[in-house]
Amino acid sequence: MRIATTINELKSLLQICRNEGKTVGFVPTMGALHNGHASLVKRSVVENDVTVVSVFVNPTQFNDKNDLKNYPRTLEADCKLLEDVSADIVFAPEVTEMYPEEDKRQFSFSPLDTVMEGACRPGHFNGVAQIVSKLFYAVEPDKAYFGEKDFQQLAIIREMVRQLAINVEIVGCPIVREKDGLAMSSRNTLLSAEERERALTISRALFQSLEYAKNNTLSATRLFVENIIAETEGLDLEYFQIVNGDTLQELKNWNECDYVVGCIALFCGKIRLIDNIKYKG
Ligand code: PAF
Repeated sequence: MRIATTINELKSLLQICRNEGKTVGFVPTMGALHNGHASLVKRSVVENDVTVVSVFVNPTQFNDKNDLKNYPRTLEADCKLLEDVSADIVFAPEVTEMYPEEDKRQFSFSPLDTVMEGACRPGHFNGVAQIVSKLFYAVEPDKAYFGEKDFQQLAIIREMVRQLAINVEIVGCPIVREKDGLAMSSRNTLLSAEERERALTISRALFQSLEYAKNNTLSATRLFVENIIAETEGLDLEYFQIVNGDTLQELKNWNECDYVVGCIALFCGKIRLIDNIKYKG
């Protein structure tokens, strides 16, 4: 496994692969890697000749300075995990490499970016689009892999690729959960043992709501989840929305479309967690 810290180094490594006619898979990450990331890398390794993984905590997508400061940074352990799952190239640049000057680009993915995470974290998706587009220009991958846990991000990346006419196939990969159901997230390492226990309520509420939804209206199902969260001490709900999986707009009835997803965001103590569940589609 090779480690590149500059775009030039990365491009020279990739040029050698391209000269040999090899296909390139790409997994962008912010590090603090877990088995969810490992599953993306494994899939890329199976589907491509060469797999590149970026490890970069992107400052422009954090709307909360403390969140950026506290975001876990574990490059050494990340490289170990990546070596174990047969990644070929790790790209771990400094902030100045990716942002030699301020990125002034303003994207609009409306209406995808005006709801849920976009509404709660102003500027977040603009920052995601800034870094992911720069990474795509640097890596020029054939395929890029994103987890469905960041459901809205995945929809926005697809839209960004469409708007910028970038020639890459975006591959969405299923959420990977701990044995007890908690969706894997780099932020889980920041939870205390007690918070970790409370956070279990999130996936339990979502899975219970799948059953509940079979015999109840959409608004009753939304209330069902909201109530479970409200009744759990230490969880502070930001939103639970049941949306059209393509447009991300809130639905009123189950029969409005064929692709229906429930998306949740909440604080568990000071740690913000997201998760989602597919009802239809
Ligand atoms: O999902 C993430 O980890 C980040 O948002 C991404 C796509 C690596 C961009 O910084």
